[in-house]
Amino acid sequence: MNSAFGGSEKIWINAQIATMNPQVKTPYGLLKDHALGVKNGTIALITPMQDLDINDFQGEIIDAQQQYLTPGLVDSHTHLIYGGQRSAEFSKRLHGATYEEISRAGGGILSTVNATRALGEDELAEQARPRLEALIHEGVTTVEIKSGYGLTFEDELKILRTAKKLAADFPIRLRTTLLAAHAVPPEYINDSDRYIELVCKEMIPLVATEGLADAVDVFCEKIAFSPAQSELVFAAAQKAGLGIKVHAEQLSNSHGAELAAGYSAWSVDHLEYLDEAGIKAMKKSGTVATLLPGAFYFLGETKKPPVELLRQYQVPMALASDLNPGSSPLASLLLMLNMGCVLFGLTPEEALQGATRHGAMALGSEKQIGTLSVGRNADMVLWNIEDPAQLAYQFGTDLLVQRIFAGDISHA
Ligand code: NIG
Ligand code: FE
Repeated sequence: MNSAFGGSEKIWINAQIATMNPQVKTPYGLLKDHALGVKNGTIALITPMQDLDINDFQGEIIDAQQQYLTPGLVDSHTHLIYGGQRSAEFSKRLHGATYEEISRAGGGILSTVNATRALGEDELAEQARPRLEALIHEGVTTVEIKSGYGLTFEDELKILRTAKKLAADFPIRLRTTLLAAHAVPPEYINDSDRYIELVCKEMIPLVATEGLADAVDVFCEKIAFSPAQSELVFAAAQKAGLGIKVHAEQLSNSHGAELAAGYSAWSVDHLEYLDEAGIKAMKKSGTVATLLPGAFYFLGETKKPPVELLRQYQVPMALASDLNPGSSPLASLLLMLNMGCVLFGLTPEEALQGATRHGAMALGSEKQIGTLSVGRNADMVLWNIEDPAQLAYQFGTDLLVQRIFAGDISHA
């Protein structure tokens, strides 16, 4: 290969590259009329078309025809491995019951726990497969999957193993998170401290040694775990060298975000009730604010996350699907871009950043994914659009021309 092409094996030419790289000082980090070369699954070259003598190139040439290349989408918060579905609970809510009431009556998360415990790894994977396929088909190239519907040692491990097995069948990067502290299991209903002890002393060390999870998450909320219990989980995760995430300030302000920021959490998620003290702490620790407009929409919430204040403090905002059976059964990250703008007032650029670079940061993976620059993984999408804002503006039409995973065209 000619060294003028950075050793590239394959080059996309005539592309509008929305790099999402903050060092490129244009909206979306846009580089007009550029070429992008890949080698061994990573980006080897980004250069203006006018500087490229493509006649000398001996590898594969793909003409982007002035369409837009963006980083592959990053869905940094999902619970996509679970058994069953909860449309009956949806009906109950539409007859007046609240999400919290259903949860306190033993429905909600615990009903999915029963359905998930009843399934083996293969059945669980089969049920989750269409959800993962839906994300992949719209351009997601990295997905985070949490456990959290097992709530026993074996069932939590089963979910993490299922996630790994399922993802291995697809061209997708997977990050897994242990969310054993998602709800108090029925077996520990009067002794949640003892369950937290099991999570901290046994589950976290084991998933760390076996490489089953990259991070640990907790649902810090009145209907789940207290700030003091959450802190024990953060400390155990830190000790095990795992990333830290938290479901916080979704239904009330428990100050879980501030607490997690004190442990240098990768992200704090939901955040409708987040206050300024929490935001200050996140700014200090470099923690990402992950907004989940699907859950806000699906639960009919009215309190919005403090987007303007997050902007003022320049806290990076990620957007994710929260794909789960109870609060966001919505297998579309592009829909979240639209909702992030319409419901939360994000700009289309902030929305795309949330599903690329900031999503990558929320997974501690910004050095590998989330932007298009030399050395990053060549995970990209080529879109049939006239403006990157169209990704947040339009929903339901198939805008994807090519999905590229590690330099290979996986869908076209
Ligand atoms: O992210 N907030 C807690 N966990 C999920 C909902 C889980 C469920 O209702 O099954 C969420 O919204
Ligand atoms: Fe969630």
